Amino acid sequence: MLLKSQHSGAASRGTHLIRILMTILVTGGAGFIGANFVLDWLAASNEAVINLDKLTYAGNPETLASLQGDARHQLVQGDIGDAALVSRLLAEHQPRAVVNFAAESHVDRSIHGPGEFIETNIVGTFRLLESVRGYWSGLLDSDIREQGLAPTGVQAQAPTKGGFRFLHVSTDEVYGSLSQSDPAFAETNRYEPNSPYSASKAASDHLVRAWHHTYGLPVLTTNCSNNYGPYHFPEKLIPLMIVNALAGKPLPVYGDGMQIRDWLYVKDHCSAIRRVLEAGRLGETYNVGGWNEKPNIEIVHTVCKLLDELRPKADGTSYATQITYVTDRPGHDRRYAIDARKLEAELGWKPAETFETGIRKTVAWYLANPEWVQHVQSGAYRDWVSKNYAGRQA
Ligand code: NAD
Ligand code: TYD
Repeated sequence: MLLKSQHSGAASRGTHLIRILMTILVTGGAGFIGANFVLDWLAASNEAVINLDKLTYAGNPETLASLQGDARHQLVQGDIGDAALVSRLLAEHQPRAVVNFAAESHVDRSIHGPGEFIETNIVGTFRLLESVRGYWSGLLDSDIREQGLAPTGVQAQAPTKGGFRFLHVSTDEVYGSLSQSDPAFAETNRYEPNSPYSASKAASDHLVRAWHHTYGLPVLTTNCSNNYGPYHFPEKLIPLMIVNALAGKPLPVYGDGMQIRDWLYVKDHCSAIRRVLEAGRLGETYNVGGWNEKPNIEIVHTVCKLLDELRPKADGTSYATQITYVTDRPGHDRRYAIDARKLEAELGWKPAETFETGIRKTVAWYLANPEWVQHVQSGAYRDWVSKNYAGRQA
């Protein structure tokens, strides 16, 4: 029998040996990467997940529908900036780690309305760090079982002050834009964020770093390149192209389409986070990437080719005929590229997917899950699309 640590009172009444597993707190676990992380985590482990998510437009409990009735997962709607709520969750559930995915994450939205990005990504992260610092300061210095506090017959694993970890999930966009000849971003690159989104993420990374150096909070930071995969909200390039192509709509390519991004399949990002959480050195940052630099226009053509193969159009034309070049994004970063050698060498992490295998799985997933797409295309989604793409036609 497996019980979460917060059930230790009930467990103590049993006479059999009960194994109490620890718990982790995930924030933003109803979003694209966070939900993939939670699903993968619970597929591989019995360690419970408390999932704190504000359920903004980007948070979708439907992504977690397969966990309904699963006692190992609890979704709590709330804000990382709500100190009373976060402190209560930490005190109640005693997690051994916090993994922070919660953020406003879309560059175009940050251009139209930066305020939410400052609130969640900067102020929210600050408040979360303070709540976590309060909890961490109060943790026991060693295992409760060793101190003789655990009831007889219970094999308890309580979080220890030394063992606690706060992992902050961040982006490669904090490093700014590369020219064609620049080497890929290393962890030692200067921060040069260019959009309200990347500036807010950069600020959050600095706060996390400072809470380690000043207060000793045991933190880790990961800076990942562009993700793609299942459950990706169709405001981002790859899912937007799939969804628009199938709907017979234009495929809007910003500017000349030659901006380069470094693409990583979301499940590989999740495995990197698990690895860093497990074995990363405290206070360190780890770049995560799949060595898959591609210009946007190539990505769009790849998506069109896969759709031509898997869901050919009735009239026999290619989806590529829907490609439309539109006005560029203001301040558009030209190139991102991740040097992931530190993570590979220190922690032995490697992505499982190539771009070719990952993008095929992704397109197949969208074809197999039209209901999920339909449900996220609410009125609010349609308002966003008309706001962002109005006046963009080149
Ligand atoms: P997302 O926008 O899909 O999901 C963000 C989630 O956070 C949503 O579920 C939302 O409801 C929740 N949230 C927003 N504000 C919150 C708040 N104040 N309190 C609690 N929850 C809140 O984003 P994503 O693509 O899953 O990205 C997750 C993290 O990974 C972000 O920190 C992002 O900066 C980072 N990241 C994303 C990418 C990418 O390609 N998507 C790449 C590198 C890093
Ligand atoms: P996006 O998925 O928004 O991620 P990010 O801006 O964080 O890299 O965009 C990926 C790239 O695709 C980026 O260079 C902007 C471009 N893009 C388009 O050309 N058209 C679109 O409709 C969108 C959403 C993005």
